[in-house]
Amino acid sequence: MFDSGVGGLTVFKELIRLLPGEDIIYLGDTARVPYGTRSANTIIRYSLENTGFLIDQGIKILVVACNTSSSVSLPILARHHGIPVLGVIEPGARRAVTISKNKRIGVIGTEGTVKSGAYERTIHALDPRIRVFSHACPLFVPLAEEGWTDGPVVHLTAQHYLTPLTEEKIDTLVMGCTHYPILKGPIMECLGSHVQLVNSAEETAKEVAHILENRNLVHTSSSAGTYRFYVTDNAERFRKVATHFLGTQPAQVDEIGA
Ligand code: DGL
Repeated sequence: MFDSGVGGLTVFKELIRLLPGEDIIYLGDTARVPYGTRSANTIIRYSLENTGFLIDQGIKILVVACNTSSSVSLPILARHHGIPVLGVIEPGARRAVTISKNKRIGVIGTEGTVKSGAYERTIHALDPRIRVFSHACPLFVPLAEEGWTDGPVVHLTAQHYLTPLTEEKIDTLVMGCTHYPILKGPIMECLGSHVQLVNSAEETAKEVAHILENRNLVHTSSSAGTYRFYVTDNAERFRKVATHFLGTQPAQVDEIGA
């Protein structure tokens, strides 16, 4: 799996919960994060490079944990290699379509994800009658990385970003960015309990489990999976910020350079 940086650990966390026997190789492109403000062409180039590195490790499935990368590069990545390639957009979109009753769905993500229209397209392909309201929430990323999950700054920021969505009377909100599950508490508080949250990371992990089962690719050994973490820069910061996402520091993180 790869992500633009540390945020993809929300997907990693869900994966190891559902598939504890699988070996996972995680690549965080920390030298070139954030992807959320970059052009589609640049993100595609970075994503192809990340994919190349992981393919060389002999992986059996590729999970693109980054929403921004998934929203622009997935069809191109899927074309290049003979293994299943899964992004986070479709699993999240499918869940939202299933649970929305009033057919008004909100989507929050990076500027890049929102601009790509990937969630809208996927939701509309599943049900064209659904109204989708999207909003970029760029400040949520540094807040999550700093571990600011409570207090006035995060509440004001949530209010600022989410009020336009509550005014649209959404009943479902897709957290379409790796970092947002860390801020689930303040997001829920701001929206109220009548809005259901979709965690794309969780839905993606379920989908990975399905794919592995359907293709007979599940690792059947009774021993626990092993985890290898690679970053393109600053392994020390990755380890530190990882504690906000995993609750523990990954044992070993190797720097491979961009
Ligand atoms: N991983 C990115 C995403 O899910 C968020 C951070 C970034 O902008 O690179 O869209």
